[in-house]
Amino acid sequence: MTNQSQFPEGFLWGGAIAANQAEGSYLADGKGLTNVDLLPAGEKRRAMMEGKVDSFTLNHENFYPSHDAIDFYHHYKEDIALFAEMGFKAFRLSISWARIFPNGDDEQPNEAGLAFYDRVFDELRKHGIEPVVTIAHFDVPVSLIERFGSWKSRKLVDLFETYARTIFERYQGKVKYWMTFNEINMLLHLPFMGAGIVLQEDEDRNQALYQAAHHQLLASAKAVKAAREMMPEAQIGCMLAAGMNYPYSCNPEDVWKGMDKDRESFFFIDVQSRGTYPGYAKRFFKENNIDIQMEDGDLELLKENTVDYIGFSYYSSRCASTDPEVLKNQTSGNVFGSVRNPYTKVSEWGWTIDPKGFRITANQLWDRYQKPLFVVENGLGAVDTPETDGTIQDDYRIAYLRAHFKEMLEAIEDGVEIIGYTSWGPIDIVSASTGEMKKRYGYIYVDRNNDGSGTLQRSKKKSFDWYKEVIETNGASLEKE
Ligand code: BG6
Repeated sequence: MTNQSQFPEGFLWGGAIAANQAEGSYLADGKGLTNVDLLPAGEKRRAMMEGKVDSFTLNHENFYPSHDAIDFYHHYKEDIALFAEMGFKAFRLSISWARIFPNGDDEQPNEAGLAFYDRVFDELRKHGIEPVVTIAHFDVPVSLIERFGSWKSRKLVDLFETYARTIFERYQGKVKYWMTFNEINMLLHLPFMGAGIVLQEDEDRNQALYQAAHHQLLASAKAVKAAREMMPEAQIGCMLAAGMNYPYSCNPEDVWKGMDKDRESFFFIDVQSRGTYPGYAKRFFKENNIDIQMEDGDLELLKENTVDYIGFSYYSSRCASTDPEVLKNQTSGNVFGSVRNPYTKVSEWGWTIDPKGFRITANQLWDRYQKPLFVVENGLGAVDTPETDGTIQDDYRIAYLRAHFKEMLEAIEDGVEIIGYTSWGPIDIVSASTGEMKKRYGYIYVDRNNDGSGTLQRSKKKSFDWYKEVIETNGASLEKE
C-alpha cells in the first residue's frame, strides 16, 4: 500500500443482512410462507436447497432456523443503534416479498408488512444510515411455487414487477440504492434456496434453469425500468456471487476451463449490465438443446434497462482444472465447490481465504463492465467462543477483514471504482448454506445457538471497535496496523 492510498470520500462503509436470515417472525402480521422458511437445519437441508423437495408443508419434527432467526423484527431499533455506534454509513437489507404480498399475487399489498420496513428505514435515516435494499434475497412466496412452479413460470415476471413497483412507490425518498436479485447466479447451483425451483428427476435441468434465469433477467430489467420511471434519483444494481476461477495450471485446457467457469456466472451480469445474451451463452444453449422461450420485446427490454452498478459478494476465489487427479482434491466456498488451491488457507467451513483474490476479482469485474462496483458481502464465518468474562476476542476475523480491506484499497488504487463495502452479517445471523447460528460473521454477538436456545442478547465483539475505527478514519487506521 502506498502512503497516498485512501478510500474515496463518502465511501459507503456498513454491513448487510437478508430478511430470512435475520428477521424471524416468519408468519407475523400477515406474512406468507416462503421457500426459505421450508429449509430445515441439519442433514435434509442440502438436498432441498438443490431442488429436491417433496412437500411444501412444515414438518414439526424439523427445526427451521428462519422462523425466529435473531428476531431482528423486534430488535431492529437496538441493532440499528449498534450499527450507528460503529459509524455505519450504509446498511443493506432485503425486503421479504411475502411480507408485502403473502401469496405473491394478492390484490392489495399487506399494510402491516409495508409498515414494518417503513419503521426500519425511518430508524436508519434517524441515524444517518443509507439503506441499500435487495428486492429479492432468495425468498419466493410458497404459494407461487405451488401454483406456478416459481421462476419456471413467466407469470412471475409481472408479479415481481408489481411487487417492485409497490415498494418503489412506498419507499421512494427513503431508499436510494436498490438491487434486484441477490446472487442471481445461485439459481444454477441451489435452485430451490436461490429461486424456489423444484427439479424433477426426469427433468432437463439446464432447460428448466436457463428458462427460469430468462424470467429473472426480464423481471430484473422491468424493475430497473420501473425504478427509472418512478425514482429518477435512485441507483439500481444487480448482484453477483463473485470470485474468480484461477486456472490450476498454465495448461491451456485449465485456463480455458477457468474462463468457462467464470462465464457461467458472468452470463447473468453480461445480460443485466451489457443488455444482451452473450455469444458464448447462445452457443451453450445450442449445443445443449436449450430452447429459451422468449416473447416479442424481451430482447429490447433487456437491452434498454441495464443496471447502474454491479453489486457483488466476495468470499473466495476458485480453481479450475481438467486433470482428474487434481479434481479429486475439492473444497467448498460460498456453495460453488472448487479444486483446493495449495497456496491459500481455508476457513473452518472449508471456504478458501484469498484476500488477493478480492483485488483480482474487483479488477476483473471493473475491466469487464466499467460500471461502479459495490461490495455488498464479504466476511469470515467462524466459531466464536465467549471468554469467561463474556468478551469475544475475534482476532481471526479482524485479520481476515484487514487483509481484505487492504486489497480493496489496492483495487481502488488500480483505478477500480468501488462505491461502498457492506460486510456480511455485521450482527450474527443464520447461515444460509448450513442453517447454523454457529457460523458467525458479526461484530455483534447474538446469544443464540444452533438449536434455537439462547437469550438473543446482543454484545460487542473485539472486532466492533476495530471496524468502528476503520470507518471513523475512512480506512486510515489500517495504515498503522
Ligand atoms: C451469500 C448469501 O451466498 O453468502 C448470504 O448471499 C449468505 O445469504 C452468505 O449468508 C454467507 O453464506 P453462509 O452460508 O455462510 O451463510
